[in-house]
Amino acid sequence: MCGIVGYIGKRDTAPLLLEGLQRLEYRGYDSAGIAVQSRTGGLRTAKAKGRVRELESRLPKRFAGTAGIAHTRWATHGVPSDANAHPHVDPTGKVAVVHNGIIDNAAALRAALEAEGVALASETDTEVLAHLIADAHQDQHTLEGAVQKALSRVEGTYGIAVLHADFPDRIVVARNGSPVVLGIGEREMFVASDVAALVSHTRQVVTLDDGEMATIKADDYRTYTTEGSRTSTTPETVEWAAESYDMGGHDTYMHKEIAEQADAVDRVLRGRIDDRFATVHLGGLNLDARAARGVRRVKILGCGSAYHAGMIGAQLIEELARMPADAEPASEFRYRNPVVDPDTLYLAVSQSGETYDTLAAVQELKRKGARVLGVVNVVGSAIARETDGGVYVHAGPEVCVVSTKCFTNTAVALGLLALHLGRIRDLSVADGKRIIAGLRRLPAQITEVLRNEAAIEKLAADYASARSMLFVGRVRGYPVAREASLKLKEVSYIHAEAYPASELKHGPLALIEPAVPTVAIMPDDDLLDKNSATLEEIKARQGSILAVAHQEQQKADHTIVVPRNEPELDPILLGIPLQLLAYHTALSLGRDIDKPRNLAKSVTVE
Ligand code: AGP
Repeated sequence: MCGIVGYIGKRDTAPLLLEGLQRLEYRGYDSAGIAVQSRTGGLRTAKAKGRVRELESRLPKRFAGTAGIAHTRWATHGVPSDANAHPHVDPTGKVAVVHNGIIDNAAALRAALEAEGVALASETDTEVLAHLIADAHQDQHTLEGAVQKALSRVEGTYGIAVLHADFPDRIVVARNGSPVVLGIGEREMFVASDVAALVSHTRQVVTLDDGEMATIKADDYRTYTTEGSRTSTTPETVEWAAESYDMGGHDTYMHKEIAEQADAVDRVLRGRIDDRFATVHLGGLNLDARAARGVRRVKILGCGSAYHAGMIGAQLIEELARMPADAEPASEFRYRNPVVDPDTLYLAVSQSGETYDTLAAVQELKRKGARVLGVVNVVGSAIARETDGGVYVHAGPEVCVVSTKCFTNTAVALGLLALHLGRIRDLSVADGKRIIAGLRRLPAQITEVLRNEAAIEKLAADYASARSMLFVGRVRGYPVAREASLKLKEVSYIHAEAYPASELKHGPLALIEPAVPTVAIMPDDDLLDKNSATLEEIKARQGSILAVAHQEQQKADHTIVVPRNEPELDPILLGIPLQLLAYHTALSLGRDIDKPRNLAKSVTVE
């Protein structure tokens, strides 16, 4: 997704902006650009298709300035090109704008501008903003007023930062649907679309709400609505220190984030287990026992891996709290005019807390009076702020586009919630203690699984040439199969599909041949015999099989053995070796592990 960085203060701005853009590269982009208030007056702009280093190589020697904005673009309107890269400027070159989001009425605004004889320099929706602000400045004598007037003509989502040559002492920013965070420094201010870009300079941040703007100066900032009324904001301290964004000696963020899962799970458990009542404390949940007893069912919403973690969570809630629960892709939910049930508890699951489809589902639910809790990783993110309460998953910053540690932590967080709900209802003390003991075993067992990496790396070499792969599992194994299939697809670009194992004979069995390996998730539960029968079906058709199980599977060509936990918690461990399988398969294919093609870390557009 696009990234925004801005700076105003005593230091030379270009190096700070480029460093900030590099911190945002993980979000996925195809071009980058920068604009600074030059010391001799006026704005200087540079932009380039490709990586930030390409932009850096094109910067003229003299590009000094004490205020500036910069952008990494993930193309929505218009191909990746120098002309379409941000910042966009008005014909006089006095206004520069960077923008995240989509202007829904861009076509009409472009047509109106062209009808006035304006020659548009790009195919983007963003460029209209530069022209509208320049026009508005004719009768609005402040930059704030010009931006407000321009935004009053815009429909859609935006996070923007604006420079104007006539106002060198400030940057004006605005947010509606795309994150904007202010960083408060010592006689310097930062602005970014993601704290990752500013946390190495300050951990004091102010997150704007939708419909909010800010004027930032070197030694001051103020926030107000797009109508102009002042708003009060309290700075928050960013939970994650700058070094937690470093690669920590690993070759890729994905490898680092797989490796740190034991510590991450420690964090999501820390301070939450109540041995006395064999339950958990979830501060910030905002759902007291009486309200929890009134919950008749749970609906979990998310996208991609967040949705798959929700599938595991739904099973845990049904097993531990014995109430109906299911997971659904947020994008499907929001578009089907859902019947919202007042006795249903809705959970919005999201690593970034900014995924547009999930945020829009939350807003639709709130509009219909539903109770929505968030299960989110990024503190202070839009979904965390929009929901009525929730559980932070404390995975630490997840930089790789491919979710691993946050997926695992989210599943554990949902397990904590399931235990909490279960112990409010009929889950016994003995079962509560059993689950708590299982949760406490997870970090050490994750470490044990990861010790198997070399063997998994060898296996990956066999699968790198596969044309396609199948992932199958039953009940607890099926969400594991779904997530493992997504992992392989998104990082290695090998086609993969996940099926409930019982579904194979209803069609997908036709795909089985030696060139299409199957990965079978086979926990030692009461479906093991059924899963073994599935292996027979596949072997009978010359299919090769990799089993992920609690013991060697004679009918499989290879088995990755995973330690047993409590049956309800087994899915959390069974998926971890398949993260490594996807990683090493992609590595052997030379893929861009942390920034797979076409993907973005946080999809903040529809
Ligand atoms: C996960 O590997 C993917 N990158 C993607 O499916 C991701 O889980 C999805 O976009 C949801 O993101 P979120 O958790 O930040 O809402």
